[in-house]
Amino acid sequence: MTEHLRVEQRGEAGEARLDPAGPEAGPYVRIFSGVKPTGHLTLGNYLGAVRRWAEVDQYRADALFCVVDLHALTVEHDPARVRRLSRQAATLLLAAGLDPGRCTVFVQSHVDEHARLSYLMECVAADGEMRRMIQYKEKSTREAARGGSVRLSLLTYPALMAADILAYGTHEVPVGDDQAQHVELTRDLARRFNQRYGAVFTVPRAVVPAVAARVMDLQDPAAKMGKSHAETSGIVYLLDEPDVVRKKVMRAVTDSGSEVTYDRVEQPGVANLLDLLAACTGGEPAELAGGYASYGALKRDVADAVVELLRPVRERHAALCAEPERVDAVLREGAARAGAMARPRVDAAYAAVGLLPPA
Ligand code: AMP
Ligand code: TRP
Repeated sequence: MTEHLRVEQRGEAGEARLDPAGPEAGPYVRIFSGVKPTGHLTLGNYLGAVRRWAEVDQYRADALFCVVDLHALTVEHDPARVRRLSRQAATLLLAAGLDPGRCTVFVQSHVDEHARLSYLMECVAADGEMRRMIQYKEKSTREAARGGSVRLSLLTYPALMAADILAYGTHEVPVGDDQAQHVELTRDLARRFNQRYGAVFTVPRAVVPAVAARVMDLQDPAAKMGKSHAETSGIVYLLDEPDVVRKKVMRAVTDSGSEVTYDRVEQPGVANLLDLLAACTGGEPAELAGGYASYGALKRDVADAVVELLRPVRERHAALCAEPERVDAVLREGAARAGAMARPRVDAAYAAVGLLPPA
């Protein structure tokens, strides 16, 4: 095992961490999270994940945030679009307030360690547990219904995601609700690897926000607001113009009653609007409901709140687009830093499973 890697027992028996900072470093928390460049970033991405990365996570931990472009290849894709969306996602992460002086922002494919470790994860994971992933079941069923073929990488995707997380000795993974199952699987793989081959990986945990962990589609409150849906009228994108945001919110599907109450089962459309308002203004959804006599008034306030929330992000994004070389430099430095962090642990994993280290 590489000399400057310190193995320390912590938490549950058998959990270990490798501290790349060396023995003199104090206790620390490492955070890793990512966003897929499969579509324009949405209000769901922002409220469920990115806002917290910028406002809280980068200040309290040694954090890495990644545009996970390899994950965008698991479904049919247009190469030029993936390239464009990757740059846009990186620019938006910076516009949302990620500070490259405080955290590491990079693109997954720029750091070979992800793909290197992913293969070892495939050797630890079982076919059955991959097939049980909800996202796989949903996406493969959809693909098959359209008569298309399902890419093998859609099935093995959680192995790559586990590699993303485990390569960095991550303690916490801040994600929206939909990713909790993948992080659970990552925990299982880390424990299994450690048990079989020795304590190489930290066992991470998902951290899901209390409000807006699952922002729903404004036109279909039973479905997650997802960036790759074909029908976009219920999806607010971070770069939507204010009048477009207003239109989408004002046309949101509400429920058949007329009273404003917070009931996720009986009134999912209204509950989603109240969740959005609470996430933007900081109140409690159930309490906010009491302040409204009509759906129209609620929608107007939600529209105003979302427009104001997104205004600074849009403005900073426009400014950053005028300086593409600045974004390039951030990504270059981010990849160099991330690679140096991941390499010793991935080398240790390669050695632990029995691969002969290069002489
Ligand atoms: P993805 O769009 O799948 O790359 O997701 C990036 C991050 O945003 C992940 O942490 C997701 O859990 C989170 N996220 C995506 N859509 C939503 C949503 N509708 N509500 C809350 N969080 C979301
Ligand atoms: N699977 C995540 C999503 O669809 C994206 C992702 C890939 C990720 N690797 C990750 C998130 C590692 C957190 C940590 O949203």
